[in-house]
Amino acid sequence: MPLVLGVDSSTQSTKAVLVDADDGTVVAQRSAPHPPGTEVDPRAWRAAYDAATAGLLDRADAVAVAGQQHGLVALDVEDAPVRDALLWNDTRSAAQAEQLIAELGGPQACADALGSVLVASFTATKLRWVRDNEPDRAARVARVLLPHDYVSLHAAAPGTRPFTDRGDASGTGYFATRDGVWRPDLAAAAIGHDVELPEVLAAGGVAGETAGGAALAAGTGDNMGAALGLDLTADDVLVSIGTSGVASSISRQPVADGTGTVTGFADATGGFLPMVTTMNAAGILDLQARWLGVDHEELARLALESTPGAGGLTLLPYYSGERTPNRPDAVGTWHGLTPSTSRADLARAAFEALLCSLADAVDALVAATGTEPRRILLVGGATRSDAVRALAPAILGREIVLPEPGEYVARGAARQAAWALSGADAPPAWPLPTTGVLTADHVPEVRERYAALRDGLDQLDQLIPHRP
Ligand code: XUL
Repeated sequence: MPLVLGVDSSTQSTKAVLVDADDGTVVAQRSAPHPPGTEVDPRAWRAAYDAATAGLLDRADAVAVAGQQHGLVALDVEDAPVRDALLWNDTRSAAQAEQLIAELGGPQACADALGSVLVASFTATKLRWVRDNEPDRAARVARVLLPHDYVSLHAAAPGTRPFTDRGDASGTGYFATRDGVWRPDLAAAAIGHDVELPEVLAAGGVAGETAGGAALAAGTGDNMGAALGLDLTADDVLVSIGTSGVASSISRQPVADGTGTVTGFADATGGFLPMVTTMNAAGILDLQARWLGVDHEELARLALESTPGAGGLTLLPYYSGERTPNRPDAVGTWHGLTPSTSRADLARAAFEALLCSLADAVDALVAATGTEPRRILLVGGATRSDAVRALAPAILGREIVLPEPGEYVARGAARQAAWALSGADAPPAWPLPTTGVLTADHVPEVRERYAALRDGLDQLDQLIPHRP
């Protein structure tokens, strides 16, 4: 049976899964940690790739690497890094994002050109930051790669030309996502001179071979990898609850949302991956557990003791500011506290707030794509919580499918490798292991109260300024 190796070079670690190319069954897996921080020597990711794939690589007939999106790997003429890579979550280039948007003619023109309105995550903003702040280094930049491109090149036989895919390219800020072509003029404008960019391979294509002779696929960004690993279709919305909340879906049409709420990425199958991100997600529950002095199991037990609407308590969970809705300076707001508010209500309100915020993200996505999802796939560590599982279908108002916990980014890379190996027109059909389908009666009142408070926030903010 042919075996394929999928690699997820994520922010925190490299995970490698060796799977059966015919049905996606995991045969073996390993991982290796990455250095912490938002600025990292990219050679550490290559070392982590070597460690995580040891003993697996030589068993694989094909390999693909998915990786954290957006990071800037800037190389000199010798292909040595001119500085540590700047990661997607490094926000130093926020002012440069504003500048580049203005140069493109404003937010809508930016979305029309690129698919997304730039934020500090995008590679182009990091290039501009290097130009503005480190001119000596900027002058030495000859080639620009994304994290997955840099690791893929290490996986490739010597002499392979740099390559990438549409999905990851769509997060750079110098790629015309709708047309699937580089905008080298925008990369040059960002750094101040022409730079070499990797070749963009067609979905399912073969990039070359590893040193050991296995086929090497294009790889992709981690969110595109997860979509492929979960076999996301245009009828689904994927909701992922992690540090941030993410709602994404597959679309055959590009989106160009000038408000910046929806980022219009490309996917790894030749389509598009519109995506909405919230800044406050699992942390809402962490904070609430800390405040109540309980662990997550007890927090869930308490929440389920309360009733829908948390005894009249409503929370806007924008503790770290928020992106959806776009309120970077917002804070958390509690409404409806009374002498009869219980600890159970306080716990319940946190879960309802998390799920209402994710429901807002799903709505924004549906508005942008015009497609009402048939089901929601819910993933992320928070799905272990009994209260998340019980309340999600009631608040999101749709059927929820819970995939089995797994390394879906690495599985997506493996599926891409299997696709490249097969030479077929589409990726192989792999059954998705799920732990069940969640249903519940919809409780629209909870969202209505949340929406009323959310929409009144501007007035409240004018009355009571909250951040210095
Ligand atoms: C998406 C984004 C993150 C990274 C995480 O725009 O910045 O999800 O891809 O690795």
